[in-house]
Amino acid sequence: MSQGTVHRRSFLGAMAAGASAARAGPRRRVAIVGTGVRGSGTWGRELLKYQGQNVEIIALCDINRKRLEAARQRIGIDVATYTNLERMLRETRPDLLIVTTRDSTHHEQIILAMEMGFDVLTEKPMTTDEKKCQAILDTERKTGRKVTVAFNYRYSNTAQKIKELLMEGAIGQVTSVDFHWYLDVYHGADYFRRWHAYRANSGTLWVHKATHHFDLINWYLAADPVEVFAYAALRKYGRNGPFRGTNCRTCPHKSDCQFFWDITKSPELVSLYVEAESEDGYMRDACVFRSDIDIWDTMVASVRYSSGAMMSYSLNAFMPYEGYHLAFNGMDGRIEVRVYERQPWEVKREDAIRVTRNFGKSEVIVLPYAPGGHFGADPRLMAMIFEPNKPDPLGQRAGSRAGAMSLLTGVAADRSALTGKPVRIADLIRL
Ligand SMILES: NC(=O)c1ccc[n+]([C@@H]2O[C@H](COP(=O)([O-])OP(=O)(O)OC[C@H]3O[C@@H](n4cnc5c(N)ncnc54)[C@H](O)[C@@H]3O)[C@@H](O)[C@H]2O)c1
Repeated sequence: MSQGTVHRRSFLGAMAAGASAARAGPRRRVAIVGTGVRGSGTWGRELLKYQGQNVEIIALCDINRKRLEAARQRIGIDVATYTNLERMLRETRPDLLIVTTRDSTHHEQIILAMEMGFDVLTEKPMTTDEKKCQAILDTERKTGRKVTVAFNYRYSNTAQKIKELLMEGAIGQVTSVDFHWYLDVYHGADYFRRWHAYRANSGTLWVHKATHHFDLINWYLAADPVEVFAYAALRKYGRNGPFRGTNCRTCPHKSDCQFFWDITKSPELVSLYVEAESEDGYMRDACVFRSDIDIWDTMVASVRYSSGAMMSYSLNAFMPYEGYHLAFNGMDGRIEVRVYERQPWEVKREDAIRVTRNFGKSEVIVLPYAPGGHFGADPRLMAMIFEPNKPDPLGQRAGSRAGAMSLLTGVAADRSALTGKPVRIADLIRL
């Protein structure tokens, strides 16, 4: 489909309406910019599945024409496609623009849309550095438009239960947090294959990945980060590799490399990325040992919060299993959870939160994983956004302030790791 060509609208959206979605008035007309796996999957196909009653996707935009067309087919809609965002917004005038491009370009699309009078839903991280962040906040204030940030991690069964426990004071005032996130040699390695491997695109995993984690803590504690001190290193990937190639498909080390990954086994990834390579040269299966990779794979940070709480945080990207350990230490007790997402042994598809009162009993709350992306978090996030009358007792809806506070924690951690000095959030931003 060529740029700006309007095709017959399909009614697949309505047909695919999720049975559980409450009808919230006329369907919102949304346009998507950035039609990669997240834009075409979660915010394309799945959005129509879960919220088709409330949402109509009216246009798609991407700078890669082949990926744009593959994404349109993946979503299964017959709508206008554009390679120019300004033109898409002018011609289609959506109720909401969904931004699912590379992290480092989010600010361009968010700011342009608001200046043209549109509200925006952006994927995390809202952006990748403090200057872009300031520009987004200033534009939002100036235009009166609204930025929503898609913090899906707030919506898992486990996250919701922990927030409830903290809100009801189950362990009293929280004094410190232990939070350790483990990315495994499959998912963790994947960040080093893709555009994320360069700080200019992702702001490092301190921003791209840890923005989720820092947002969770800001939300759980209902507090702002004040100061961050961090160390970080690149120990496994990049220049540390024993050999390297350009990408897995053409690599002479296929048989010796533990990180060899065959993208051609996935027809969906072939159509979205391999067949679109001729447009922009982007290789989805690039070598994890490229010597110019400049993000970290081993990160530890200490964060101090406005509530007086402190956090000890780490993020490791080449672990034998995936998941996290999170504990809240309070004046009156401790809440602890160990989440396994993938490991070489069997674990029930449920999380167990242990709540222990000082001098008292210990209780285990078992929560099964909910169906849908990210353990059921994605469909719940969509419901919160597209069913505006839905009550929000846990304060899960997130705007630009939450987007800023979480990404700035990552920016501060990265700055601290580079300079060896603590970094104050107030020195990065004017709120
Ligand atoms: N919340 C979550 O759990 C979650 C999960 C995955 C991805 N994400 C986020 O979603 C976003 C997209 O990630 P992805 O994995 O789909 O990446 P991707 O590389 O598959 O897709 C990004 C798309 O943006 C396009 N693009 C880049 N610059 C552009 C520009 N200036 N204008 C228009 N299009 C542009 C690319 O061509 C590509 O098609 C990222 O911000 C990522 O952090 C969030």
